[in-house]
Formats: sequence, structure tokens, C-alpha cells
Amino acid sequence: ELGKHETYMEKEIFEQPEAIRNALRGRVVIEEGMVKFGGLNMTEEEIRRISRIVITACGTSWHAALIGKYLIERFGEIPVEVDYASEFRYRNPILKEGDLVIVISQSGETADTLEALREAKRKGVRVLGLTNVVGSTIARESDGGIYLHAGPEIGVASTKAFTNQVVSLILFAIYLGRLKNMSLYEGQRLLKELSLVPEKIQQILEQQDTIKKIAEKYHEAKNFLYLGRGVNYPVALEGALKLKEISYIHAEGYPAAEMKHGPIALIDEFMPVVFIAPRDALYEKVVSNIHEVKARHGKVIAILSDKDDHVLRYVDDALYIPQTMEEFSPLLTVVPLQMMAYHIARIKGLDVDKPRNLAKSVTVE
Ligand code: F6R
Repeated sequence: ELGKHETYMEKEIFEQPEAIRNALRGRVVIEEGMVKFGGLNMTEEEIRRISRIVITACGTSWHAALIGKYLIERFGEIPVEVDYASEFRYRNPILKEGDLVIVISQSGETADTLEALREAKRKGVRVLGLTNVVGSTIARESDGGIYLHAGPEIGVASTKAFTNQVVSLILFAIYLGRLKNMSLYEGQRLLKELSLVPEKIQQILEQQDTIKKIAEKYHEAKNFLYLGRGVNYPVALEGALKLKEISYIHAEGYPAAEMKHGPIALIDEFMPVVFIAPRDALYEKVVSNIHEVKARHGKVIAILSDKDDHVLRYVDDALYIPQTMEEFSPLLTVVPLQMMAYHIARIKGLDVDKPRNLAKSVTVE
């Protein structure tokens, strides 16, 4: 079943292009610049009346939720709040008519997420579930749903489910936009670019050897910092989580601009700092953060857009991603981070598919 791969995690990282194609299949109507879903169970009129969205989830799925906030606010023009499921269910979340709660869960069985769903329903709010496992409890108890179509994810660390969560949120955000102010042309432009993403991920997967070399160089580090901005801030969190989970190296993710408010004190020649710095609106600002780290002798590993040689002489190591739209870049930037965590763990001889103390689905609080 593993085919040419040695572990499920590696197999699942490499399945991402195909998983995304499966999530897009049958849902994209290019001529109309539109998306169609089978199971939302809401009329277009009900969708247009949504005035606020609250997304709730745990772990990696919560990182996808943070990206969803950017996407839905940007394309769907609806305000979004994101909450950890465990926090949501024990607060007094103020929910009103016109609110939609979205729960995101690969397994569809996570206890905190399931209870957050039940709490929202108890308050009379409609719940949309984004799950991977067909027929899971969250899928069954949600009012409507979007299946991730990532295929079974066996490795404990989530990879292809995460990218398909982001794809589903992109599709949903475009769908919301098209029912409101987004033009036909803009819908078409976004969907055409989205359809090119699987091929672009393939190009990143082909950089495996470069990524292995970087893993060799840094696998003995005791701490890592991951920095990104905008839609790539949640990717920084996700990169840090992947490293913690499978390689047991302490890592933290931050919005790059927050570095100067504290974490900068940690930087010395032993601290690798991973910058997610594709060419986007915030690129120049991230570059100035790179200079700040180098001035303190930190080691910089940068995820850059193709052909960016502007900062090359300031960074210690670089990984390249193909150009895409800013809003879709997390689908690309996360891949080298998954691979780097993977190879560091393998070099350390660890069981990446079953990291210590972790379970694939967390059905206890
Ligand atoms: C990280 C990871 C966990 C899960 C979290 C939620 O790689 O796998 O953080 O993302 O336990 O799980 P689901 O999505 O099944 O609700």
C-alpha cells in the first residue's frame, strides 16, 4: 500500500497534487466562474443572508481555519472569527441569527470540535462541517457539509487533509463572493489559477534533495522560529507544529512583524529562523525582518518565489515555490515545511507515522 514510499506521511505529502484535483473535480464551473457543492443544504438566499461566520477547530485544522478567515473576508466579504474548539465550547459564544458556524475536522471525531458543533446547534445556529472521513460523527451531525476528498490519511501528522481544507475554504470563499459582488471574470481568473496549483506542488516535491540537505544541516538545532505574514502567518504556525510533532524539536510560529515585540531576544547563531517570504504585497516588510535576524547572527532558511535572487545573499538557505496568487500561496508554502519536518525527523531516526504521545483522532478532551 505504501508503494515507492517508506512511510505514510511521505506518501501523503506526495499525494497532495492528486488530492487537490479530487477536491476540485465536479465542483468548478469555469464558464460561470462559479463553484457548486453537493451538500451545503442552504439556499442561495440563505447564503446571502449570512452576516458573520465563526470557524472552530483544533490543531492543524485550526490553522486552516485561520487561512479561511483571510479567504472568506477577502473573497466572500463576510466577517469571520476563528476560535479553538476547546475555548469556544467553554465560553459563552455570542451567536445570533445570520451567523454560520463552520467546524473543520479531518477525522470528524475530535471531541472538542464535536462538542463545539453541538453547542452551536443548541444555540440555534446552522453548522457547516468540513470533514475528510465520510459518515463521521461531525459529518452526520452538521446541517450541511463539504467533504475534503483527500483520501484516507494514516500518518498522525496531518498533511494532505490540511491542503484540502484550504482548497475547500478557497472554493467556499469564491462561492460566497460570486453570490455577492465578485465578477464573472474574477471568478474565472481565480478558478483557473487554482487549477494550476497541483502542478506547482509537483514542482516543489521535486526539490526533495535540496530539502534533505537543509534537514541534514539543521537537524541538531534545539529551537526553530517560523515567521510569515498575512495568509502565510498560519503557515508559520503549521510549519512549527509539524516540526514539534514529528521531530520533537521546539518550534514557534509568529506573524513576522511580532518578532520585534519579544521573540527577537531569542535570536543568536544557534537559532534557525524559517521565513515564508513569497513575492506578495508584504514581501518587502518580511525582507526587512530577514535583515534584522541576520544582524543578530541568526540562521535564515527562506521560502521564496521562483527566481527571487534579491535576498539570496542575506539568507543561509533558500527553497523556491512557483508563482501563484497571494491568496493561494499557503497551498505551496506549506509543502517544503512539511518536507523539512519530515526529513529532520527521519534523520533523527524517529517514527514519523506514529509520533510519541499523539493519536490520529483525539476523542477525549
Ligand atoms: C497535526 C494534527 C492535529 C489535528 C487535530 C485535529 O498534524 O494532526 O493537530 O489536526 O488533532 O484533528 P481533526 O482535524 O481530525 O479534528
